[in-house]
Amino acid sequence: MTEPESFRLIVTIDGPAASGKSSVARLVAGRLSVPYVSSGLVYRAVAVAARSYQVDPNDAAGLSAMLVAHSVALMLARDGNRVTVDGLDVTEVAETSRVDATVSLVATHAPVRAWVNKTLRALPGSFVAEGRDMGASVFPSAQVKIFLTAPAGVRARRRVKDRTGDLPAIQANIEDRDATDALNSVPSPDAILLDTAPLSLDGVVKVVLAHVSCAKERLMGAAS
Ligand code: DC
Repeated sequence: MTEPESFRLIVTIDGPAASGKSSVARLVAGRLSVPYVSSGLVYRAVAVAARSYQVDPNDAAGLSAMLVAHSVALMLARDGNRVTVDGLDVTEVAETSRVDATVSLVATHAPVRAWVNKTLRALPGSFVAEGRDMGASVFPSAQVKIFLTAPAGVRARRRVKDRTGDLPAIQANIEDRDATDALNSVPSPDAILLDTAPLSLDGVVKVVLAHVSCAKERLMGAAS
């Protein structure tokens, strides 16, 4: 079945810290030949900017003014997402434990969330977007909405490979972030909840792709 030219597919993959959203979103996007979009990376870039310009992560007005005075940008590169602050690529530093420690705070402020959401909604075409509230708030009419879950211990064991620090410290950070992020991490009522604990990465990707195939068939059936 050929997709109509106007067909726009948005898949949202939400879930708590270290639930595997990025890996799943990247692989699903690759299989669908569309970009993936990491909303968490945009919040991380805002946290890096706040650190660089010495804005207190608790200061909503200061963060808001910073986003007017400085340029924080997301780029959907072929090999993944990149973020810049005033033209400087900060992608690597954005993914460190130091940023893990402040990003949740930065993301609690309504003006910051509004700025990130506006940035994401301006993206054209089809994509796979991952985060906490992609399905519930940012792209409420996405055709496929997935919400990944897994116990904090399982998520910490997965994350230990790409962070400095020992397992208890990483798990404690994840639990802290779960508490701070809780308000903005509510699954959309029409999201598919997927417990990833018993599944491999490949297994999760297969389940998501099966839901995408069903949604595409449904949509194309409705359009024909
Ligand atoms: O997914 P991540 O760990 O890279 O996200 C970093 C932080 O950004 C996370 O602690 C909460 C926040 N975040 C958010 O509040 N809403 C999103 N859609 C994505 C991330």
